[in-house]
Amino acid sequence: MAEPALAALPAPAAGWDALRDDPGPDSVRCLGLYARLAAGVAVVTALQPGGAPSGTTVSSLTSVSARPPLLLVCLRHGSRTLAALTGRGTFAVSLLTERQQRMAERFADPAVPHAARFAGLPVRRVLGLPVLADGLGWAVCLVEDVRRYGDHQLVVGRVRAVEAGDGRPLLWHARSFHALE
Ligand SMILES: Cc1cc2nc3c(=O)[nH]c(=O)nc-3n(C[C@H](O)[C@H](O)[C@H](O)COP(=O)(O)O)c2cc1C
Repeated sequence: MAEPALAALPAPAAGWDALRDDPGPDSVRCLGLYARLAAGVAVVTALQPGGAPSGTTVSSLTSVSARPPLLLVCLRHGSRTLAALTGRGTFAVSLLTERQQRMAERFADPAVPHAARFAGLPVRRVLGLPVLADGLGWAVCLVEDVRRYGDHQLVVGRVRAVEAGDGRPLLWHARSFHALE
C-alpha cells in the first residue's frame, strides 16, 4: 500500500498524548520498515536446565555500553533460547561471518531441534557457555536485565569475557542474507 503523503498526516489537533491510546500503524506496515534495517547476524547461545545447549539466530544484537560493557538482544516470547537464558542467568553471542550463512539458517529453523543445531559445529566452551568458533568474535554475558516490550523481551547482558576475530560480517537486509561488497 502506498504511504500517505506527509501532508496527509498533520500534527494531531488533540495533542500527542491523544495518540498514546491509538493502536497506530498495522504490523505489516511496521514490518515493512523493519525489514529495511540492515543488521549483522549473530547466534545467541545458552544452557538449558539439564546443561544441553540451546541457540538461536538473531539480527537484534546491539552494543549498549563500554563502561560497564553491556549488550542488548531482543528475543520473541516463546523462544526456547530465551527460556534457557533467563533460567541460568547467562548467555553468549557469536557474531557470524559471510561464510556462516548455513549456520545462521540452521539456528533459525524452528524444525531443527536444538541438539541438531550444534551437531558437527566447532564449538568452544567459555565460562561453560558454548561459543561458535571461526566467527567474527564472541562475548559471554551475565543477564543484567530482562524487560518485556510488545511481543519480544529485551535482554541486557553484562559482558564477562569477549574476543574479537577477523572476517567479513554476514548481513541481514530485506529478509535475506548479504555480504559486504
Ligand atoms: C537473520 C535472522 C535474524 C533473526 N533475528 C531474530 C531476533 O533478533 N530475535 C528473535 O527472537 N528471533 C530472530 N530470528 C528468528 C529465530 O532465529 C527463530 O525463530 C529460531 O528458530 C528461534 O529459536 P528459539 O526457539 O531457540 O528462540 C531471526 C531469524 C533470522 C533468519
